[in-house]
Amino acid sequence: MDQAKNLRDQVAKTKTHRPIKVISITSGKGGVGKTQVVANLALALKAKGQEVLIFDGDMGLANIDIIYNISPKYNLKHLMDGSKTIDEVIFNGPDNVKIIPAASGIQELTELTDQNKMALVDQIDQLEGKFDVVLIDTAAGISDNVMYLNSAAQSIFVVVTPEPTSITDAYALIKVMATRYGEKTFYIVTNQVRSDAEAKTIFNSLQNAADQFLDSVQLWHLHSFPYEEKVRQSIVKQQPMVKFDKDGAIAKSYKELAEKVVKLETNNQKGGMQFFLKQALMGK
Ligand SMILES: Nc1ncnc2c1ncn2[C@@H]1O[C@H](COP(=O)(O)OP(=O)(O)OP(=O)(O)O)[C@@H](O)[C@H]1O
Ligand SMILES: [Mg+2]
Repeated sequence: MDQAKNLRDQVAKTKTHRPIKVISITSGKGGVGKTQVVANLALALKAKGQEVLIFDGDMGLANIDIIYNISPKYNLKHLMDGSKTIDEVIFNGPDNVKIIPAASGIQELTELTDQNKMALVDQIDQLEGKFDVVLIDTAAGISDNVMYLNSAAQSIFVVVTPEPTSITDAYALIKVMATRYGEKTFYIVTNQVRSDAEAKTIFNSLQNAADQFLDSVQLWHLHSFPYEEKVRQSIVKQQPMVKFDKDGAIAKSYKELAEKVVKLETNNQKGGMQFFLKQALMGK
């Protein structure tokens, strides 16, 4: 049996499904707040009645588990080796946010055997039509896995902080995504800023570099979160900010971001879960 062809046939099947937004939350530098954004945005979207799936794409450290205080038994790896079904692997998180936990320490997605890829596509296929938004928590940096997950997503959110290395690394990531993968649109989320002016300065420096060196790349300053000491406390308590300080400024800000995400026009050329997986697994 030609497994590669089989896989292609499987992912090429067209199905009618409700519109889904597949968004990757990524960054050049590590530790800028990606997992914070994913964990809290998921809950804020859920509060707006959206069905949300978190795909933990950080194969190194599974830290969504820590923020949600959950310990899933199974993960992506069990889907790939066919030992568990999607229903067994999907974890029911807080407020019924669904999570596909990361497989720790697996090789590059594109290097999986055709059999593993097929097992994965087969299972993920069953999710079609069940979610409004999929949030992909990627690892930091420009490894192949991160690039594939980003290019497979319909929208890319780049989280960046005032630290100079965070800004230069965010630019490096945007540059690779633009030049090697043809991505044209990036949504910038500034985080841990001390003022609106600081957020604007970060965004402007990215935009100036993009205007000068990258061809027809568009950056949007989607949202900004202030530096907030309580974030650290919420992590210690293993409670996401929108619950830990539910009437605070950060929780309010997540409501606003969720509103923007609901209204966000996604790249229609990229389809649903099938498209996402195909791209991520084939490394396009
Ligand atoms: N708005 C904020 N205010 C203050 N501190 C913050 C804020 N957002 C994030 N942090 C701090 O940054 C740390 C890293 O956040 P997080 O784990 O979400 O980053 P990450 O980008 O997912 O990291 P990694 O690259 O390791 O996956 C948190 O532990 C927290 O201490
Ligand atoms: Mg993280």
